[in-house]
Order: sequence, then C-alpha cells, then structure tokens
Amino acid sequence: MLLICNLIFNQLNIISTDTYKIRFNDDGYTHLNELVVKNNYTKFYVLVDENTKKLCLKKFKQKTSFQFEIIEISSGEVHKNLKTCIDVWNHLTSQNADRKCLIINLGGGVITDMGGFISSTYKRGVHFVNIPTTLLSMVDASIGSKTGINLSSIKNQIGLFSDPITVIIDEEYLKTLPKREINSGYAEIFKHSIISNSGFKKLIENPNIVYDEDTIANSIKIKNEIVIEDKFENNVRKYLNFGHTIGHAVESLFMNKKNKLLHGEAIAVGMICESYLSSRLKGFEMSTVNTIKKHLNKFFIKVNFSKNDILKVCKLIKYDKKNHLNIPKFVLLKDLGLVDINVDIHENLILESFDYYLRI
Ligand code: GLY
Repeated sequence: MLLICNLIFNQLNIISTDTYKIRFNDDGYTHLNELVVKNNYTKFYVLVDENTKKLCLKKFKQKTSFQFEIIEISSGEVHKNLKTCIDVWNHLTSQNADRKCLIINLGGGVITDMGGFISSTYKRGVHFVNIPTTLLSMVDASIGSKTGINLSSIKNQIGLFSDPITVIIDEEYLKTLPKREINSGYAEIFKHSIISNSGFKKLIENPNIVYDEDTIANSIKIKNEIVIEDKFENNVRKYLNFGHTIGHAVESLFMNKKNKLLHGEAIAVGMICESYLSSRLKGFEMSTVNTIKKHLNKFFIKVNFSKNDILKVCKLIKYDKKNHLNIPKFVLLKDLGLVDINVDIHENLILESFDYYLRI
C-alpha cells in the first residue's frame, strides 16, 4: 500500500532534453548504476576539486555501485584553462583510458564546464556525466550542453557544445556550500524568472527561498525549454545571456584582482545595468528596474567600480561571444518575459548604467 501511495503521490522530477535526461536524487543514482551496467564502460573517472573531494565524494561513493579513480584538480575559475586540461588528458593517457571510459564531473560550474570539454575532446570524445554540486551549476552550467574553458581572463573563449549522457541533481550537496555560493546560484534562478516572467513576483515577495528539488527543477525547466528550441544559440538561447554581456566583463575584470567576484555576483551587476539599459532603450518599466535592483541588493553586496574599472569593462565587452563584426550585442527586456536580442549600445549608455548601479 505504501509503495502504491509513493508511486501515486511522489511524482519523479525527470526533465527530458533533446538527447539526455536530468534526474534527481536517488532516481539519478539508480539510473547511473543501470547505465554503467548497460554501457559496459572500461573504466570510471570522477573529476573533483579539493572541495568536492572532501565534501561530496563520500555521498557519491555511497550511492554508486562501481569502482572509480579520482582525478583531482584545483578549484576556481583561474584553473579553468588549457593547462589543467593538458594535465588531465596526460593523466588519462598515462592510465591508458580508452574511448569506452566514463568521466563523471562532480563539482561546480568549473568542473562541469571543463570536465565536459576534457571528455568531449579526449580521443574525440568519451561519455561524461554531470553531477553539479553548486546551485549555479545545477540550474545553469551543468545543463544546456555548453562545455569550455577560459583563455587567460576571457570567459569560456574555447569550448564546444557536447551532451552529457545524464545529469544528476542532488540538492543535499548544497548543504556543503557557504551562503555566498548559494546566492551566486540564485542570480541565475532570478534571471530565469525575469526572462520567462515565471515566478518573478513570488521571488520578489519571498526572498527566503528553500532550494528544494521543485525549486531547482522549475528553474531548470525554464532553461531547458529555451535550449530545446535553440540549442546552438542562434536565437532564443540568447535570452539566457540577459545580464551576461556586462556581467561576464565584470567577472573578467575581477578575475585578476585579489577580491574576485563569483559568477552570480557579477551577473547581478550585469542584470541591474542591463535592466536600466532596457528601460532607456526598450521601454522596460523603470519601477520594475528599481524592484530588480532592490531585490538583488538583498542578496549581493554592492561592488565598487572606479571610473577606470568601468572603462575596462567597456573594453572587455568587445570580447563577448555574442558580438557581431566586433559590435557588442545586448539582450534587453521590453517587459518581464519579453526579451529583445542583438541590441547595439553606445559606450556612453553603458557608463550611464553603471551610474545607476552605483547610485544608492
Ligand atoms: N548560461 C547560458 C547558456 O547556457 O546558454
């Protein structure tokens, strides 16, 4: 009877992409254990950093039924580069890892982005699984099939679209994270609510969010629907870049500073500035811009920008991947859920948007 009740009431969250499925908690591990038997892999490698090795590997071991080797890399965006990839490729080669090995990326966005890239290029591609352990990676980096690394301080300059064979979301890993990391992931959840006009009011009215399976699944579903429509980012996938033209440049600027910014912290700056630009150019309600700024200021401390910093941000925007013929292309809002892409913006307006950001 209990089993029947569970089957009726505990509907599993399974999110289907075009090629693979995103599964949650025990269902995800069960599926992985089955896949391992079905696909007859020769060897298993789990890519971790020092944090996920210490805090997440034990749970992963308890839930899986196969022996694996651990490959540890150093945590942080500064290590998401070719040197780290070469180290891992060399290690796999020295271990005689063949084309039928499986690489499991257990970590945040750096691990899932770079692990996906390493797997997709090693011997022209081996299967990989993403098990994101940060909120940011759960709702964004580990899904959507983007893999890649940074080129010096230019974010994700090298990479390819490549699908994992499955993604497992286990929100228990979030318990290992400091609040600052959780808030960084929240920036992407909030972005999803803005571009889809789904759940925006609820987030504004209840800033004490519980990051449970349903909250995470709902945010993933917003991104997933967009990715299914336009995986290779010719059109609507650009919506996901709202806040990221300025945000990525801000993140790059701080990458070489002592006080680095987390991705979501930089994107929060980008969303405030780009909301302001949306109001100036696309008629986005200024009252909503103010609401967005006020809400984000509850999660993120104000970043200080000197005039010189802002000029550097304007220069860095020239490397944005959405640029066409070297002209930056912005993603702006006409309204919540009504997005406009490929918008040209004059540098003066970018400076003005930082004035708005810095204003109390
Ligand atoms: N993070 C933006 C995207 O996956 O397209």
